[in-house]
Amino acid sequence: MTASASDALIRLDGVTKTFGTTTALKGASLEVSRGEIVVLLGLSGSGKSTLLRHLDGLEIPTSGSVEVLGSQVPTLKGRALRDLRSRVGFIFQQFELVPSLTVLENVLTGSLSGVRGPRLGLWGYSRAAKLTALEHLDRVGLLDRAYQRSDTLSGGQQQRVAIARALMQKPAILLADEPVASLDPESSEQVMALIREIAADEGLTVVCSLHQVDLAISWADRIVGLRHGEVVLDTPTGDLTKAEVMEIYGRVATTTAEIRAVQEELVEAAAQVAAS
Ligand SMILES: Nc1ncnc2c1ncn2[C@@H]1O[C@H](COP(=O)(O)OP(=O)(O)OP(=O)(O)O)[C@@H](O)[C@H]1O
Ligand SMILES: [Mg+2]
Repeated sequence: MTASASDALIRLDGVTKTFGTTTALKGASLEVSRGEIVVLLGLSGSGKSTLLRHLDGLEIPTSGSVEVLGSQVPTLKGRALRDLRSRVGFIFQQFELVPSLTVLENVLTGSLSGVRGPRLGLWGYSRAAKLTALEHLDRVGLLDRAYQRSDTLSGGQQQRVAIARALMQKPAILLADEPVASLDPESSEQVMALIREIAADEGLTVVCSLHQVDLAISWADRIVGLRHGEVVLDTPTGDLTKAEVMEIYGRVATTTAEIRAVQEELVEAAAQVAAS
């Protein structure tokens, strides 16, 4: 389903991004509607992180346009860029917590009033912010860990802290770059389930890159496949078979002919899905 002009919170149009001689994104177009849960799939180097980073202005396209929450992201500077970022939460594979801080302090660093980075201790935040942070910790099931150093938690727990931290911004959009790549399968499922639950409760729009195809299929509303920086598949998950998605990875194509064959199959699979 294509988003109508009014409900797309994210709109990439013909985005190309080059780094020197590397083309990380090649004419990528994508619209994401409010409340949609989208997974980006693709081989390593296919451009997933680069695409995500364009959505909160961490990268500027070489050409094409990136509109998020009604703003042209590449034109934003200073306060306007900060405002956009405050509405876009971002979680990462490595959680990016400050290891020596407590869980609660880490969550508070996501608060709008807080200063990121330096060790502020709890005194740097308002009572209201602290109560909100505790509520978010409760939400992710870690209230009893609030005063523990974050580096004493398991990976799954640390990612839940990172989710609580992202919630401090009251984001409209949550971006996740391989949020469970460092976790075991059970923790991965728990973290992904938690993200879905919170997204549903808060009406969040989620764009998440994943490597685990099974997880992506069971979790997302929609799958976007990237290959060499191009969007080669964009389809509702319900219409998609695992075999079709596996085509994004399924073959290690080395010759031009093989690559073309794989691409043609993907196009065909997408056409079949569109026609059904
Ligand atoms: N800052 C950069 N400088 C130079 N090249 C970059 C930079 N960022 C990304 N690239 C290149 O762009 C391409 C796409 O990278 P990207 O990180 O988006 O891929 P990815 O799909 O996220 O891969 P992975 O699954 O390994 O995380 C790669 O060839 C990468 O080396
Ligand atoms: Mg990446």
